[in-house]
Amino acid sequence: MSLNFELDGDEATTRATSKISRREGVDRSAPLVLNGKASFVELLGVYVNGKALVNEAEFAIENDLMTIKSDALPASGAFTLVVETKFQPVKNTELSGLYKSSGTFCTQCEAEGFRSITYYPDRPDVMSIFTTRIVADKTQCPVLLSNGNLIKSEDLGNNKHAATWMDPWRKPCYLFALVAGDLAMIEDKFVTMSGREVALRIYAQHKNIDRCGFAMGSLQRAMKWDEERFGLEYDLDLFNIVAVDDFNMGAMENKSLNIFNSRLVLASQESATDATFERIESVIGHEYFHNYTGNRITCRDWFQLSLKEGLTVFRDQEFTCDLHSRAVKRIADVRYLRAAQFAEDASPLAHPVRPESYQKIDNFYTLTVYEKGAELIRMYHTLLGREGFRKGFDLYFERHDGQAVTTDDFFRAMSDANSTDIEKLKLWYSQAGTPALEAAGVYDEVAKTYALTLTQTLPKTNDVNGAAENKKPQLIPVSIGLVGADGKDMVLSGEIKCEGDSKVTLNDSKTTAVCRLTDKKQTFTFKGINSKPVPSILRGFSAPVKLTITPELTTDELLFLLANDSDEFNRWEASQKIATSILHRACRKHNANESLEESDVNVTSDPSWAKYVDACRGIIRDATAGKLDRAWVEEALSFPATTQLIQDLAPGVNPVNTYKVRKAFAHSFALEARADLEAALATCDAEAAGLAYEVDGPQVSRRALRGYALRMLGTIGDVGGMLSTAYSAAQNMTDTVAALGALCGHDNHATHKNAAFDDFLHKWEDDNNVSCTWLRMAAAEAGAGDIAAVDEMKAIMARAVYDAKNPNKFYSLIGGFAGGNVPGFHADDGSGYAFVSDVLLSTDAINPQAASRMASPFAKWRLYDDKRQGLMKAQLQRLLAAKLSPNLFEIISKAMQD
Ligand code: BES
Ligand code: ZN
Repeated sequence: MSLNFELDGDEATTRATSKISRREGVDRSAPLVLNGKASFVELLGVYVNGKALVNEAEFAIENDLMTIKSDALPASGAFTLVVETKFQPVKNTELSGLYKSSGTFCTQCEAEGFRSITYYPDRPDVMSIFTTRIVADKTQCPVLLSNGNLIKSEDLGNNKHAATWMDPWRKPCYLFALVAGDLAMIEDKFVTMSGREVALRIYAQHKNIDRCGFAMGSLQRAMKWDEERFGLEYDLDLFNIVAVDDFNMGAMENKSLNIFNSRLVLASQESATDATFERIESVIGHEYFHNYTGNRITCRDWFQLSLKEGLTVFRDQEFTCDLHSRAVKRIADVRYLRAAQFAEDASPLAHPVRPESYQKIDNFYTLTVYEKGAELIRMYHTLLGREGFRKGFDLYFERHDGQAVTTDDFFRAMSDANSTDIEKLKLWYSQAGTPALEAAGVYDEVAKTYALTLTQTLPKTNDVNGAAENKKPQLIPVSIGLVGADGKDMVLSGEIKCEGDSKVTLNDSKTTAVCRLTDKKQTFTFKGINSKPVPSILRGFSAPVKLTITPELTTDELLFLLANDSDEFNRWEASQKIATSILHRACRKHNANESLEESDVNVTSDPSWAKYVDACRGIIRDATAGKLDRAWVEEALSFPATTQLIQDLAPGVNPVNTYKVRKAFAHSFALEARADLEAALATCDAEAAGLAYEVDGPQVSRRALRGYALRMLGTIGDVGGMLSTAYSAAQNMTDTVAALGALCGHDNHATHKNAAFDDFLHKWEDDNNVSCTWLRMAAAEAGAGDIAAVDEMKAIMARAVYDAKNPNKFYSLIGGFAGGNVPGFHADDGSGYAFVSDVLLSTDAINPQAASRMASPFAKWRLYDDKRQGLMKAQLQRLLAAKLSPNLFEIISKAMQD
């Protein structure tokens, strides 16, 4: 495939020359069918072996397909096909294909963007070697980039130049990329494990180039990690990253030319929070890791998307785990999985990790394909062990390097390389819904046994094969420990009896067992258990299930696990369970109250309250004294989000009441823990004084603890002055955002809050990324003052800082409102829902992918009380009656399903 691009001002003219031959066995009469988006791409000509084809007589274009009749093709052998097209990248507001972002030409071809450039078999199993020549104006586009190696530069006179790139690796067109513009660049290098030197370059707008250093370091760490953990060495002499402001997604793994949303590249002490730094490192890793899992081995078709995405998310998670705190990363990932993927799985949008059908593949870059897909890969890892997993992974490459394959091929490699029976793990690819796992433990004092009966149930879901009777028991790895009265893990010495043919694997110290549940119900009996243990079940969250334990662990048992469990994940889980049960009781009590005020909620009379507060205060003090990992502490002390509580208690939940109950909980907690919180804050500040800013473990976890303390104190009404001082004194974005967040904690801080918000906007208005932080916070706070939420939102949209065409700004503002502003979005007059619908409609006309990504809050209507269900369904009906893009139509029509 040889591509020639002429980029002239606002116009692009292309000539695509490909060598094609009829596959063996394909009938002589079969036509050649190419994809092409006729509404965007103007066809200038089609030639076979140099001869122009005549429209209608020799080819036809219908429904975005070009069909070249068999008579127009040679009877046998290879032929040359030339397709010439023309289009206007500036008019490409969908940001799919070739478009312009801040004056720079750039591409996004996954999944089906290449068809907006030229007519081509736009499917991942059609692979070719691409050569790309770009011709452009020297002044407007001094930088000309594509995949692979630069093989030729030409000066064409007339202030024009050309660059020709050749990528020696065969690839599908979704991995094609082109960038042309006036960009600045930083360069470094990486020496691979075999001693080859790779040039690393990061391109960004001139004004941003001094914020690319952290991304460069992240890339080097990722390259090294993939060599060490998976033995994978980079396979070209050049690796480029380009940061652009207008991008629908986070980043894209185009071969040797990754294109990134600038928010995931640019970072400095002043502009980025610690969370952003960590996110940048993991996304740089993710896209780099695709070079093998995605590019060298790609997907046969888009149903296999999780083959590359689930696997690569697992790899980027492990990258972060290996470089930072494993437990804290695992906790954060599970928190996200439960809050977001479990919610998707419980909604009408539920689908299996390998979907059965789709209208627009863009809609299937979902939490299920990504996060549940990564959990599925993690289950292989848990079941086969690190070495067994690596054997399977190596076999996968031995068999399939250079091919376009399926999740079945991955499964077979894993299974063939190991002796463990994992057959029923495969069902996780085809069955939607989060399994419920019940664990019932019985201790027999006389027999000295602990018998654990595990039962799995798969819920019915709305996808094609979603009926409950279609669902079969899956292989679920359940990691278990038994904690003795001394607080130590009991040794599970070999003698474990279980029903059926499933087995149990012990870790080296024999303190954790992985039970392989393969039937609906099985009992695992541990022998030689001399005293009644407290069970620690699903250690490390060994499977993405909803666990219930019977008999329910008491508050004292949970506190015991919180203090003693050797599994840091389950220690965190214990703290969450106590907080959750207090919150659930309060939410249930107040759910139906139509006029609930925060002050009506009294959590302090809950039977577990005093013990919980006591334990947390102890943890705060230990963290302050440096006796506990502060980053873990921040997780352990944070209580479940409102959205999580709503999900737990659905259906029939009044979201605004849930929000008020949670606020009251935080406020009460802060009042009781005030002295400890203030001491934590003072200690953190004292430690930081005079220290040069670094993004390293100790500093990041100190800032996390400090932020937690500040946020909690912010819920108290008389600390506005202190918070506003903290805002002004902040020397980095983490502290700045912590102060702003804390200022939102109580209405009494309104004056200080508004001043700080104005100051922040004034400072960052012209920064396309940092201003999104303001948009997100402003959206979450809309309606907190005297102006109605929706009116405030409209006022924000009218400001210069907002740009409806920029996905980051749209996601920040609308996502910040629908996801972060409970009283505003769920206002009981329906105004929040109507507002979001209006914005979805106007965005859909500009950028269907972006609109559709913000539509999922409406798919959650079933969670809420009758009144809100009615209001949300009315908006869904209104949207359905409008003229929608296929993208938004698919989401809205599915969201309607009962
Ligand atoms: N291949 C995707 C980017 C993509 C997604 C392109 C959807 C076209 C449509 C990329 O590897 C990716 O997964 N990016 C994520 C970030 C990642 C760290 C999970 C993204 O863009 O959100
Ligand atoms: Zn990816």
